[in-house]
Amino acid sequence: MKGKPFFSSVVQKLVIGITGLLLCGFVAAHLAGNLLLYSTSDRYAAFNKYATTLHDMTLLPAIEIGLLVLFVVHIGLTLRMQFQSQKARPEGYAVQKSKQGRGALAARNVMHLSGIVVLAFVLLHLADLRFGLRFNEAGLAPAQTVLQVLRDPISAMFYTVGSLLLGYHLFHGFQSSFQSLGFGGERLTRIVKIVGILFSVAIAVGFASLPIWVTLLRK
Ligand code: HEM
Repeated sequence: MKGKPFFSSVVQKLVIGITGLLLCGFVAAHLAGNLLLYSTSDRYAAFNKYATTLHDMTLLPAIEIGLLVLFVVHIGLTLRMQFQSQKARPEGYAVQKSKQGRGALAARNVMHLSGIVVLAFVLLHLADLRFGLRFNEAGLAPAQTVLQVLRDPISAMFYTVGSLLLGYHLFHGFQSSFQSLGFGGERLTRIVKIVGILFSVAIAVGFASLPIWVTLLRK
């Protein structure tokens, strides 16, 4: 006899939605901090103060572990669901043949692809700015380190593409997170859609503006 699945797909979707929304919160806070780079007075004093305060926080390791758990659960469950749905539907072509099925499949594929590129971007980003694996000049202020990374043309391109794809990923993810949480009804769905669009555009434009600004204006 087949046992009940440990995690029903409804619960998995719910957890993907909740972790996704918590990651949205992190991304918004992270962008707010990074935008302090635009305050260039006194050699980026505002950004340096923010970064130093963050580094000095006792709770930072706990927050970092929490973030890692969110990323791992969000990505792990998404892959698990994808794997399960493929296994459950070996006749997938029948679904692909209908127009609606093809559309949903394409949206899901683009969602996965953008997720993979965003993940690659985050890994490079952590290697650069969290672990200093590529750029590791001693004695630089936090803002100088960020500017050094963004001045590298390959990094600037990767940061721009990564930010725009993150926006795309959030554009779809934001709405489906709320759907998984059970938000329904015409009016609420429309509000969530509008907020999702505004949020994802703000995140994409906000993050991508930094490498573009550094490349074009602050060489
Ligand atoms: C122009 C864009 C960005 C800039 C300038 C930037 C800058 C930074 C800086 C300065 C740090 C701190 C490293 C340290 O601990 O010293 C950091 C950490 C981090 N960033 Fe970004 N970031 C950008 C975009 C992004 C995006 C789009 C994401 C996510 C999708 C992201 C995810 C992270 C994560 C997960 C950390 C590690 C947090 C921690 O361990 O404390 N960043 N970033």
